[in-house]
Amino acid sequence: MYTQALNSSDGEDRHVEDAARAAQFQARIDAEERIEPNDWMPPAYRKTLTRQISQHAHSEIVGMLPEGNWITRAPSLRRKAALLAKVQDECGHGLYLYAAAETLGSSREELVDAMLAGKAKYSSIFNYPTLTWADIGTIGWLVDGAAIMNQIPLCRCSYGPYARAMIRVCKEESFHQRQGFEIMLTLCRGTDEQKAMAQDALNRWWWPVLMMFGPPDQASQHSDTSTKWKIKRFSNDELRQKFVDATVPQAQFLGLTIPDPAMKQNEAGNWEYSAIDWEEFKQVLAGNGPCNRDRMAARRKAHEDGAWVREAAMAYAAKRRQRAALQAAE
Ligand code: 3HC
Repeated sequence: MYTQALNSSDGEDRHVEDAARAAQFQARIDAEERIEPNDWMPPAYRKTLTRQISQHAHSEIVGMLPEGNWITRAPSLRRKAALLAKVQDECGHGLYLYAAAETLGSSREELVDAMLAGKAKYSSIFNYPTLTWADIGTIGWLVDGAAIMNQIPLCRCSYGPYARAMIRVCKEESFHQRQGFEIMLTLCRGTDEQKAMAQDALNRWWWPVLMMFGPPDQASQHSDTSTKWKIKRFSNDELRQKFVDATVPQAQFLGLTIPDPAMKQNEAGNWEYSAIDWEEFKQVLAGNGPCNRDRMAARRKAHEDGAWVREAAMAYAAKRRQRAALQAAE
């Protein structure tokens, strides 16, 4: 009886202590303080950040596949060099982000295995095919444009390692977006066939790019906590609207038509767009998009083919640790 009473009062003390720590944590967030890896944080804060940062990293790595497909087919050496640099950048973004996720306690192996097992997501946008060279221009212009819209606020995320990774990523994203827009401008000022190719790519990518920002706010299961903890600074719909408002004038400058005949500008200057097909979004997230199986098969094969490199690196690191220990013992 006495032990039970003791345990329950222990339990109450612990509960009071956790509530006090959570309140202290929230006060730090509200005061715009940065949370660092060794700081106390609610388990749910750690969990949602590991989820978002690792999925962000997976998106960067899987995102290399659709563009990598065109490196050998770029129309000029200059275009090939820019695309090569961009794809290499995306790999680097993935590494920064895996490193940021690892500061929360999960290993890179665990995070990558979760994606390869289909238990962790990557951005829906990378499950669409790149059918023509205009797709490469559209990805740079729109996909990286949307990524910038989403990533600039993440530079002010409450979690230090994520925010700092984003500052470096955003600098490189601007180059990605500019080179994509320049490809589109060249095509739109080219032959009729080239302009038609640019319009066809815009028609195919416009709606999947709007889905990149996530489900509508009322269906977003993480937004409330992510906003409370200042991981998210704007809602999914707010960023989507900012992106649409910034992109429509660019399409007009290119002489391209947004594939949404009902789109119109309201008095506030915002471009109102038609309903998004969230069923398509759900299907892509469920693995039924045009390229989901190809992307996962390519990532699983690359992971298997790269096993020997990881083993060699681990063996070399172990050897160096052993040698350092022997030298320290001398
Ligand atoms: N693709 C895949 N899954 C998506 C998604 C998308 N476009 N949008 C939302 N989801 C998932 C969420 O991950 C969540 O599932 P989970 O619980 O299994 O993680 C579910 O749908 C509900 O969505 P929420 O809005 O509640 O989720 P979030 O609050 O996490 O918001 C997000 C989604 C806006 C994508 C947010 O996670 C985020 O800002 N992530 C960081 C940015 C990012 O990952 N961008 C992806 C593209 S990276 C890129 O474009 C690289 C560039 O170099 C080309």
